[in-house]
Order: sequence, then C-alpha cells, then structure tokens
Amino acid sequence: MQKLEQLYEGKAKKVFKTDDPERYIVSYKDDATALNGLKRGTIVGKGVVNNRMTNHMMRLLEQQGIPTHYVQELNDRETVVKKVSIIPLEVVVRNFAAGSLATRLGLEEGTKMQCPVLEFCYKNDALADPMVNEYHIMAMGFATREELDRICGYALKINEFLQSYLKGCNLDLIDFKLEFGKLSDGTIVLADEISPDTCRLWDSTTHNHMDKDLWRRDMGGAEEAYQEVLKRLMGEN
Ligand code: TMP
Repeated sequence: MQKLEQLYEGKAKKVFKTDDPERYIVSYKDDATALNGLKRGTIVGKGVVNNRMTNHMMRLLEQQGIPTHYVQELNDRETVVKKVSIIPLEVVVRNFAAGSLATRLGLEEGTKMQCPVLEFCYKNDALADPMVNEYHIMAMGFATREELDRICGYALKINEFLQSYLKGCNLDLIDFKLEFGKLSDGTIVLADEISPDTCRLWDSTTHNHMDKDLWRRDMGGAEEAYQEVLKRLMGEN
C-alpha cells in the first residue's frame, strides 16, 4: 500500500491518503495538548505507545465482536485504517469520578460510580467540545436513535472488556473517551485511539496515575508511565 498526500493533521495524529480509496494511514505524534489546545508540549515516545496500545486493544475488541477501523500495523507509529466519516462526538465512559465529572458534581477523585456513566461531547474546538445529550445528538442529525443505541451498546461492552483486561495488568480503568465512525455503507465502527491519552489508568495497588494526567497536571513521569503501561499490556517493551 502506498502512502499518498496528508489529508489532515490533528493534535496527536496525522492522516494520509493511500492508493486504496477505502484505506487511510494514521501516524501517531509525540505532541500533546490539553485545555482545548492552550497547553502544548511533547511526551517523548508517546506516539509509539499510543499506536501499539490502540492496535492491540482494537484487535482484542474485534475478537469480542466490536467492529473497528483497524486494518494493519505498518510500523511503530503508523497504521492502516478503514476510511470512515467520524461522528463528531466524544463518547466518554466513567467508572470512577475524576477530571471534569469530579469537578462538576463535587465528587472526590476516585469515588466509585454505582454504574458506568456515559457522556457525550460535541467535537468542536471553537466551542471547546460542549457536553450534549441524546436529544441534541438526534436533533443535530449526528446519529439516529438506532445508531445511538448501537454506539451506547458498543461503549458499555468495550468498557466491560477493557476494565477486566486492564485489571489483569494491575490497572484500574477510571474513565476513557471513544470515537466512532461510519463506513461508506453506514456501518458504525470504533475509530480513533485507546491509549493513555484517552483513558485514565491508575495503578490498582498504588493508585498512581499512569496516563496523560501526569502531563496535564505537571506531575512528572509521563514518559515512564506510558512505557510502563505498554509493557504491562504487551509483556514487553
Ligand atoms: P474529562 O474528565 O476531562 O472530561 O475526561 C474524561 C476522559 O476522556 C479522560 O479519560 C480523558 C478523555 N478525554 C479525551 O480523550 N479527550 C478530550 O478531549 C477530553 C476532554 C477527555
């Protein structure tokens, strides 16, 4: 497969066209942003960790019956994915209070939620990704009732699988963000990434943060934590 011109550069990834109109190549960068782009920096080696972790998780999720955009890992930073049109939603799943939920509801970080919490944000940088509910999503034409039911079903099933898989790596899945896309025939598939950028992962024993919060909150040790997560997941480095 031949890599052609760059289609798009996001905050953490670049997307390239290929000679196959139904396939793109994503390339993961070490660039990090937070606070809707106000904070910028680099987490050395992050692109490799995020590429390899995402692909590992997507392969396992496919085995669990979750359709994904994953096709083939090309190298440490680059992966072939199916061409999708991204549904402009961030689908957040939370098992414990943290981050914006802890702030909004006045909960102590780490409080166990009695059931998983699903939230949606409209992906729009100019509006700082406002939270929306299912009625907004249907009213704005982003997804139908049936598509939303499918998305929510996938998100909860992904949560069940990831939680138990990560527990086996001594990691607690606090919360995470998913994105879904549509293939040209309308099939909804999991897209984007599953990585320490998009998941809050705490060590089950020490409760140490093992994710992007280390960088967001200037706690130090982000590079080492990303490598450690990959090592626990893949049993190598
Ligand atoms: P939040 O607590 O800041 O709302 O974040 C919830 C989860 O979603 C957390 O695991 C980080 C992830 N997330 C992203 O991946 N991208 C984003 O733009 C935001 C706001 C959160």
